[in-house]
Amino acid sequence: RQHEKIRNFACIAHVDHGKSTLCDRMLEMTGTIPPAAISRDQPEQEAKNEQVLDTLKVERERGITVRAQSATMFHRHTDGQEYMLNLIDTPGHVDFASEVLRSLLASQGVILLVDAAQGVQAQTLTVLDEALKRNLTVVGAVNKWDLVKDDGRGEAVLNELSDLLACDPGEILRISAKTGWGVESVLDAVVERIPPPPPAPPATATTDKEPFRGLVFDSWYDSFRGVVSLVSVFEGEVKKGDSITSSITGNDYTVLDLGILSPREVSIAEHPDANSRALRKGMAGWVVCGMKNPKDAFLGDTFHLTSRPTPPLESFKPLKSMVFAGIYPLDPGGFTKLEEAIRRLTLTDRSVTSNRESSTFLGQGFRLGFNGSLHMDVFRQRLEDEFGEEVIVTRPLVPVKLTFKDGTERTIDNPADFPDPGGLLKVVRVQEPMIRATIVAPDEYTGAIINLCTSHRGVPLSHTYLSSSAATSSSTASSTALKPRVTMLYSLPLSSIITSFHSALKSISSGFASFDYEEAPYEDSDLCRMNILVNGQKVDALCTVAHRSEVQKEGREWAKRLREVIPRQQHEVVIQAAVGSTILARERIAPFRKDVTAGLYGGHYERKMKHLAKQKAGKARLKERSIGRITIPTEAFHAVLGGQ
Ligand code: GTP
Repeated sequence: RQHEKIRNFACIAHVDHGKSTLCDRMLEMTGTIPPAAISRDQPEQEAKNEQVLDTLKVERERGITVRAQSATMFHRHTDGQEYMLNLIDTPGHVDFASEVLRSLLASQGVILLVDAAQGVQAQTLTVLDEALKRNLTVVGAVNKWDLVKDDGRGEAVLNELSDLLACDPGEILRISAKTGWGVESVLDAVVERIPPPPPAPPATATTDKEPFRGLVFDSWYDSFRGVVSLVSVFEGEVKKGDSITSSITGNDYTVLDLGILSPREVSIAEHPDANSRALRKGMAGWVVCGMKNPKDAFLGDTFHLTSRPTPPLESFKPLKSMVFAGIYPLDPGGFTKLEEAIRRLTLTDRSVTSNRESSTFLGQGFRLGFNGSLHMDVFRQRLEDEFGEEVIVTRPLVPVKLTFKDGTERTIDNPADFPDPGGLLKVVRVQEPMIRATIVAPDEYTGAIINLCTSHRGVPLSHTYLSSSAATSSSTASSTALKPRVTMLYSLPLSSIITSFHSALKSISSGFASFDYEEAPYEDSDLCRMNILVNGQKVDALCTVAHRSEVQKEGREWAKRLREVIPRQQHEVVIQAAVGSTILARERIAPFRKDVTAGLYGGHYERKMKHLAKQKAGKARLKERSIGRITIPTEAFHAVLGGQ
């Protein structure tokens, strides 16, 4: 029974609790990659093998895993049998939750890692929730046990996790992914506790063999072979030469090559342990089938044999973009180059939506949609790292739903499309997306967190103690490490957390609070559009949609910031923030005095010349855009938007 020797599993955890390190260690222990020398004499070697699965540069720099990646390994268990373990490494950040969901669809179980120093965190709770919703087997493990001292903290975390999983503390594994200590027990637990994929139904008289059905759960583009699809085989098998069909597009393809990730792509025909020429039921592997156009690749698609059509598998929800922003080249002449860079980057990150847009101030650009603000940051950084593109990113906006008097509905992703007060008279309902936030923090920060959430228009839903930490604290109240911790659930507008919420939460809790969220339905909201005017002219790239209770404060802040970055001109510059014809804030920049050196004392000739030369060089460096007679260096614009 081939399928009984297969295990499909994912590692889930809060950010930085050690998933990637554990995945690397498992790849080494199973001989999938050569072992890193964790000895003191060869530190470079260790650095080289660090986090094989985190391949993108941004991931390395930021230390986060952005794209889920998989790898197949072969493990000889204590029962003497060899098992094929399909590991799906998942990204750890909240914006990439959809990727976590994808990997769960292809697994029967998960390893839930918790850092021994930090304990259960917000994301531990949200990812566990997803795994339980899918009835997956959960193996709990406390990582970084090498850091555990004798203060009872490690045991407290262990109890916290066993409480959460409603299991015996003895079932929780203690490991150190870094040193490799205990990692063998993780491999054993995967084999012993996680069930194999479900067996094939017995063959009937009409069908000799089960027809092939495979779920596409990841894909990327290779310039030689076209689209490479990562497929989890739910039924039947697929091999080279088979003719397959996509359920979504109806296009037919011939399988040119297929294999497993080990963790690099290895053709199945060449893999010594694969023991088969086909990707069989329960396996996860890559398929190249001459799909040349990346637009034909859909995550969640089902492939089936062309000769044996089957209904598509239950798929995941298509990704919805929740944060939109305009992206413009910093260099006013750089549109074509930027267009090509965005085209190529969206091929590798299919969750970004892109449409052209233009601004009277910034010229030609794009309106891009992202899963969240971190996703947006990562995309911007990749544009810079991989294509050398410096861009201006306008203020992000969440989708806003408008219902008009005549019953029509419209979703807006650009602040410039939001009606002015006159236009709003025709709108009967304005709605914005909400989230359900989970915050875990030591009890002492509760007050500050409540204030933060309230000032972000949050409504409390519940407030509970993480059980065992509260219990332990009563017995060892003196130890600061064991202070009781609370879980707070809040309903918050998505728009209020996409800019500064995370950093504010970290700073008010000295870094101890953790945060995660799930989408919640849209709710009614009193929003309005705020315009920024420079000498009476609207700067479209700076207009925003804000809640009426916050618009006054925002207007003042924006006007002040602009005053700081716009250099003096020959003419007076007046900056205003306004809703319709109501002016919220006004700032003025006085014109130059004709002689720029007049203000310097002493009439020192050399000093005067130096000043003039400096000014000239400065001018040459700036790339400018203008509104009427006013010139604004794009850099200044970049600075004001960058600081939002
Ligand atoms: P994301 O991909 O960002 O979600 O993080 P991750 O969960 O994959 O964590 P990662 O493996 O990148 O580990 C985070 C940090 O913890 C790294 O600096 C690791 O070296 C360190 N780390 C991981 N496991 C251990 C461990 O067992 N002991 C110690 N001391 N450090 C560890």
